[in-house]
Amino acid sequence: MHCPSIIGAAVSIPGSFDGSVVQDAKSQQRISGGEVQDLDLEKVDGELSASLASWSFGGTVYRSFDEHITRSVPMYSECHELILSLSDFFVRPDSIVYELGSATGVLTAQLAQRHASKLRRIIGIDIEQSMVTEAERRYGNPSVVQFVEADVRSYKFEPSDFVVSYYTLQFLRPEERHHVIKAVCEKMARGGAFVLFEKVRERDGRLQDLVDQLYADYKLGNGFEPTEILAKTRSLRSVLEPSTSAENIAALREAGFSVVGLIHKGLCFEGYLAIK
Ligand SMILES: C[S@@+](CC[C@H](N)C(=O)[O-])C[C@H]1O[C@@H](n2cnc3c(N)ncnc32)[C@H](O)[C@@H]1O
Repeated sequence: MHCPSIIGAAVSIPGSFDGSVVQDAKSQQRISGGEVQDLDLEKVDGELSASLASWSFGGTVYRSFDEHITRSVPMYSECHELILSLSDFFVRPDSIVYELGSATGVLTAQLAQRHASKLRRIIGIDIEQSMVTEAERRYGNPSVVQFVEADVRSYKFEPSDFVVSYYTLQFLRPEERHHVIKAVCEKMARGGAFVLFEKVRERDGRLQDLVDQLYADYKLGNGFEPTEILAKTRSLRSVLEPSTSAENIAALREAGFSVVGLIHKGLCFEGYLAIK
């Protein structure tokens, strides 16, 4: 994945391009097919910066991730609490639980702590090695919690009772989201649940315009500079393509979940509960 940077850091990102990436105070350079191209970095939040259509969670993003996302997404921590309460209905003795896109491990660790006496295993999966290393450093406990560096698009799930994807599938292409939801559902025990949170697009243009403006107000109110808000939006081009609420609900139903309901809506952010 492409990599936003901490300004001043020099980072080489495997798998981003067919060459190397070097970041400095003002620009990162992409060496592709022998040609050097400048990718201008824009400040996104404090020391966090990213260039056009290049947002990723790699490199040193883990250092500012929790603070950045808590200020960026309405009710981020409150919805962690909601998921913890929901998990009480589905986690059983000897359950296997997954979090897809576990980032720094906060939610995986909270679930592990809540169900410590019951769980067989809880596995936090993330594609970014630096995120997995940070999660392990903070919360690694080999007996119950595992953090795995893996791609959820090709992950082989074991039978499970509870799976959470908290603002992760939105970073996959829409057809890949369907594939992952199906893979989760296939391996889920009957009566088990998948909790999916996603950034969404409104179907109505006027409503979308309103929500966009309200979301900008929300970020301004949380201390972001207008230029930072614009830089983040620009960095997400081609990286985050929201589905509509109806598309998400249809994908969950098509995958085989028998009960699907909306459990959260805060501006352009929604959460669904899908029971097999
Ligand atoms: C918004 S963060 C998730 C936040 C986290 N769930 C929480 O509750 O704080 C999205 C995470 O998904 C990870 N991710 C993106 N694509 C992935 C993929 N294909 N497989 C595994 N993880 C992925 C990113 O590296 C990032 O850490």
